[in-house]
Amino acid sequence: MDEKITIAHVSDLHVRGEGYSEELKRSVIEFLNEVMPDVLVITGDITDNGYYFEYEWAKEVIDQMPARHKLVVPGNHDARNAGYLIFEEIFGTRHPVLKVGNIKILGIDSSEPDVDDGHIGRLAYDLVRREFKHEENTIKVIALHHHLIPVPGTGRERNIPVDCGDFLRVICEVGVNIALCGHKHVPWIWRLNDMLILNAGTAMTMRVKARTAPSFNLIEVFSDRRVRITRVDVRTRKSEVIYEGRLASVSL
Ligand SMILES: [Fe+2]
Repeated sequence: MDEKITIAHVSDLHVRGEGYSEELKRSVIEFLNEVMPDVLVITGDITDNGYYFEYEWAKEVIDQMPARHKLVVPGNHDARNAGYLIFEEIFGTRHPVLKVGNIKILGIDSSEPDVDDGHIGRLAYDLVRREFKHEENTIKVIALHHHLIPVPGTGRERNIPVDCGDFLRVICEVGVNIALCGHKHVPWIWRLNDMLILNAGTAMTMRVKARTAPSFNLIEVFSDRRVRITRVDVRTRKSEVIYEGRLASVSL
């Protein structure tokens, strides 16, 4: 059997915020217990308003989510009320790096305090170049809260990072294979140049658009660079393969 690494990509938990559901939380945890992912990536909005007590609730939930490794980045809701300071207290850094097998995941904080818009900033471009240049056989994954390309069914575009074009150029230049995002509570996948841009829905709330389902993504990466991406409907526990292909290899 092929060796593989499984990444669970979960987003927008808004623990105990409006529309949050303990039942959905339990369903996510049960599903993850069955899959036992190697890595759990959470792309932000773990809290609703960034208060320290909300962080304690969120931490409790994240601790119950099984995975061998965890990487969390903050969202715009987490940066509210100086919540980014509490985020650093709990998770250590807003720009985490994780290497598991031949996969390297870099987390980027795209939030700004008390602003819903995304902003990545030029310092983070250097970080991306530093972490991903000269990594020829590595599968490169970036994780941030804000969506990098508009998502269908989300109305008039808002909140996309103000410097998104420049950031997209940087991550394409260094050969990022997969970008993981959240924020709009709508799951979607785009393929841009050789990169997959994967948006996760909201996993634990009913703050969804129309009758779309709360959901999260599973990404299975095989040793021959094949990838299979599955979307899991948290309410019904039904999963659907949304992408299968091979990740590009870019040498710099
Ligand atoms: Fe958000």
